[in-house]
Amino acid sequence: MYRDKTCGELRLEDKGKDVKIAGWVQKSRKMGGMTFVDLRDRYGVTQVVFNSAVNNPLFEKANELGREFVVQITGKVEERSNKNKNIPTGDIEIIADGLEILNKSNIPPFTIEDNSDGGDDLRMKYRYLDLRRPTVRKNLELRHKMAFEIRRYLDANGFLEIETPILVKSTPEGARDFVVPSRMNPGEFYALPQSPQLFKQLLMVSGFDRYFQIAKCFRDEDLRADRQPEFTQIDCEMSFVEQEDVIEMFEGLVKHIFKYVKGIDFPEPFPRLTWKEAMERFGSDKPDIRFGMEFTDITDLAKGKGFAVADDAEIVIGITVPGCAGYSRKQIDELTEFVKRPQIGAKGLIWVKIDNDGSIKSSVGKFYSEEDLKKWAERMHANPGDLLLVMTGETMKTRKQLCELRLEMGNRLGLRDKNVFAPLWVIDFPLFEWDEETQRYYAMHHPFTSPNPEDISKLKTDTGNVRATAYDIVVNGNELGGGSIRIHEAGLQNQMFELLGFTPEKAKEQFGFLMEAFSYGAPPHGGLALGFDRFVSILAGLDSIRDVIAFPKNNSGRDVMNESPSPLDPAQLDELNLELKPLS
Ligand code: AMO
Repeated sequence: MYRDKTCGELRLEDKGKDVKIAGWVQKSRKMGGMTFVDLRDRYGVTQVVFNSAVNNPLFEKANELGREFVVQITGKVEERSNKNKNIPTGDIEIIADGLEILNKSNIPPFTIEDNSDGGDDLRMKYRYLDLRRPTVRKNLELRHKMAFEIRRYLDANGFLEIETPILVKSTPEGARDFVVPSRMNPGEFYALPQSPQLFKQLLMVSGFDRYFQIAKCFRDEDLRADRQPEFTQIDCEMSFVEQEDVIEMFEGLVKHIFKYVKGIDFPEPFPRLTWKEAMERFGSDKPDIRFGMEFTDITDLAKGKGFAVADDAEIVIGITVPGCAGYSRKQIDELTEFVKRPQIGAKGLIWVKIDNDGSIKSSVGKFYSEEDLKKWAERMHANPGDLLLVMTGETMKTRKQLCELRLEMGNRLGLRDKNVFAPLWVIDFPLFEWDEETQRYYAMHHPFTSPNPEDISKLKTDTGNVRATAYDIVVNGNELGGGSIRIHEAGLQNQMFELLGFTPEKAKEQFGFLMEAFSYGAPPHGGLALGFDRFVSILAGLDSIRDVIAFPKNNSGRDVMNESPSPLDPAQLDELNLELKPLS
């Protein structure tokens, strides 16, 4: 045995014990005839003392230790005279009587401590060293704990964990596929699954009425802080259920995780918003409801006063920012610049200040009397001291722009506290999304999502307004997960394919096996998938999911540690019957 204690477990109660520990040298300090070594392992850091007066050869050996050397130390636990209140082992130290160097180390490229001096790129290149840092390690410990609790909850509720293939058939909907050439079938390709969607539906046909999988998914899409090309879903499906059953089961799962991992109870049911309400009140299908500043529609009040920006707009909406009437010219200019940024793309920002004495100043005084603006303020529930921020334009675009501004104001006012969690369900999503470019409808969720039974008669006549039986779970402005009740009946599924522009031949080619399976008795079924990486990062209070993935990709989809993707050897290409086009 290399050790009988870890570097995180010794306390004052252990005083006088002879122990053996092993780990990495975090740092060593020579002070006169004493050398202090901080030894680190997964569990913590323990101070080890080498005293020249007690054992000079050992002291000399300790002075040869460099950062990240791997060593085994034996010694006696003693009370520290100079206690370190910042670490759990800070009351004790080990007076060494033995030192074994198990392995040397090159000087690491950055300091392996919480506040590392290594930049992002460097830390990613040496990710295995970065993972030694306690902050990063804690994220993976949290991830493990969550996976464990997820399995505990789902197992207790009768779910079976079943693996599905990674080499699958390429399907055109959704994001782009990652593809894999087949050597044994020249000219043919597998795709990596964007999700186990079709397989979990097939498992329902097979009678496994409660399935789950902590599943790797692959999507070749543009990356953002909350997106990775390969990520993990908590993927679930149930038979003989309606929307309410699925929501209840997975609200239970989310509550279980918060309770057993974070110690947070949610005694009340999560709030629910229809997609329409979410868009009208927050301009987003994943609203952050930790704070107010909801939208107010003042289109009728703003139009007809000779102000072209409002008169020509489809919608005029605003938010009331509490207590910010004192914003300076510079602060307002900053907000205007913020909404004009290309990512947001607004033309401008209207502001109205309700001063503490009730008087009104605004950027639109030329067009609106004080009386007019008082009506705005009244509609927007503004109080003296508040600032109104108003935007105009096309409905959907303007809502999205004002949503960005609302979130920015939430950040500026410190209203988006990472220790506060506000989950909700968004329901009644539209079934279809119109795409201007290709002039056709796409499935907003996926083509197997069932329409709301009340809207089936509108499928052909009022396609854009048909609601889906689809739901998302949202936490703090992040889409944590989503799912739907599926179509289990061939006639309706064929109608869907037709509306989505699939010819019967194309539908058969892509999804024939599913349709055939459904002809052998598909039960009513539905499910959802939660983004596991997102779930962990939300609980860890992190902005990027990269920090909760052991070996993530960077924003160009590269692993800078193993330098992938990388070119293939010509012989390998040949074996796969592939020829590369010259790079343009
Ligand atoms: P959907 O596409 O909404 O649904 O995905 C479910 C959840 O997975 C997470 N997610 C991602 N996380 C990290 N990186 C990505 N690139 C990424 N893409 C998605 C999100 C999202 O809410 N088969 C359906 C589910 C179902 O209907 O049962 C599906 O995949 O948190």
